[in-house]
Amino acid sequence: MEFSTKLSPPEKQASACVVVGIHEGRTLTSSAAAIDRATRGELSDLLRFGDMEGKTGTTRLLYRLPGVAAERVLLVGLGKQKDFSAKAWRDCTRAAVSALAGTGAGDAAIYLSDVAVTRRDAAWKARHFTMTAADALYRFDQMKSTKAEPRKLKKLTFAVSSRRDLAAAERGLKEGRAIAAGMDLTRDLGNLPGNVCTPSYLAEQSVRLAREWKLDVQVLDQKDMEKLGMGSLLSVSKGSRQPPRFIVLHYNGAARKDKPVVLVGKGVTFDTGGISLKPGAEMDEMKFDMCGAASVIGTMRAVAEMRLKLNVIGLIPTVENMPDGAASKPGDIVTSLSGQTIEILNTDAEGRLILCDALTYAERFEPQAVVDIATLTGACIIALGHVCSGLFANKDALARELLAAGEESWDRAWQLPLWDDYNEQLKSNFADVANIGGRAAGSVTAACFLSRFTGKYDWAHLDIAGTAWRSGKDKGASGRPVPLLTSYLMKKAGKR
Ligand code: BES
Ligand code: MN
Ligand code: ZN
Repeated sequence: MEFSTKLSPPEKQASACVVVGIHEGRTLTSSAAAIDRATRGELSDLLRFGDMEGKTGTTRLLYRLPGVAAERVLLVGLGKQKDFSAKAWRDCTRAAVSALAGTGAGDAAIYLSDVAVTRRDAAWKARHFTMTAADALYRFDQMKSTKAEPRKLKKLTFAVSSRRDLAAAERGLKEGRAIAAGMDLTRDLGNLPGNVCTPSYLAEQSVRLAREWKLDVQVLDQKDMEKLGMGSLLSVSKGSRQPPRFIVLHYNGAARKDKPVVLVGKGVTFDTGGISLKPGAEMDEMKFDMCGAASVIGTMRAVAEMRLKLNVIGLIPTVENMPDGAASKPGDIVTSLSGQTIEILNTDAEGRLILCDALTYAERFEPQAVVDIATLTGACIIALGHVCSGLFANKDALARELLAAGEESWDRAWQLPLWDDYNEQLKSNFADVANIGGRAAGSVTAACFLSRFTGKYDWAHLDIAGTAWRSGKDKGASGRPVPLLTSYLMKKAGKR
């Protein structure tokens, strides 16, 4: 999709379609009013007939209105004008783009920047327009023998009504494009099946990305990891025929001496549970257990395209968790890179076993902050559902920055406690720590486990088990939390 921005009156815009908003109670936005004036009251008539109430997300398509240059006018219902929220704006934008995709229009100009959203400027609107449009138009047919027809809709123009807004919208659109491309990449990697998207595949794709965007990349193989002493990570991969990989991506956008932000993504390309085998129902969804890794890769791409003035390092420990004669067994004790010994009481709690070695590895970069992203616990879905990601941090200031980034990008997170009290549940009779803490507070004990490896820096953990993909009819990777992470990094780079 080609995105652009423009300053032009709606009635004079010669597109295949112009999109204007109508509030509930049949109130015209200023763009809708301009169309109404140009057509000598066509819209007012239509509203009087009662065919468009302006309810949130409803649409009406009109053709060849007299006095309007565009072939079509799409009316979008915006709901109540009072307290019009960021969410409502995004929902209406998405509804408009989905409706456009169902028409024959090859291009369209969207006039929704005139809808006031509390505390959101033209740059925010343009950024979110691009992100929601790309999100609505995304499809994944790489694995189908017959591909979907190419879309007729090729070009979307985000129209603004003042010169000042034009510059801001231009900026927002550029950022939105970069974030959307990062999300698309994250979704593609997530959606690929486990027999294609293996640890080696993630490594190959990282090398490709690095070449395209001039990142530095390093891929450690099993021997390298053995030499380092990543006994915890290797205990997960040894039950699989797929060799493990440890990917290191560097984006250098600031001076060498500037401390980097390190992102660590869980890359379990398939999680059967290992010897503590998972039940069969919906097990296919465990191909999404590498969505943390995919979000790091997508975020690195977005950051590179935006040329953020910041150093960012992406660490991706990636393995396949399988049952096998060589697999780890409950009760096995392994030594992590940190030297701490771990009793594996459940081989299905494998994410923390690969993350802990990556978190220790992160120390060598003397990071200003480390954020890990992982589809870590089913318990997080029980706690928070599919609305927000779970957030844990050993530094409140870092937690606040990430929460704010989630609000700004509408990719929200909610903080859960990381109190020492929970460490009680991780005690082992035989090793330094156990890898599970019982049924109670499963997401918290998982985070507590990780916190034992992050004492040397400011650290936060995002549990994306409920947000990284959707189940059911619309099954597929969501691209989250790329918006949250990029928003956080943009702020860090002084961009927002
Ligand atoms: N990848 C899963 C977590 C998960 C499960 C995410 C379902 C999304 C949907 C993780 O490796 C896992 O299996 N966690 C266990 C931990 C338990 C054994 C302590 C879980 O959540 O059941
Ligand atoms: Mn598991
Ligand atoms: Zn897992």
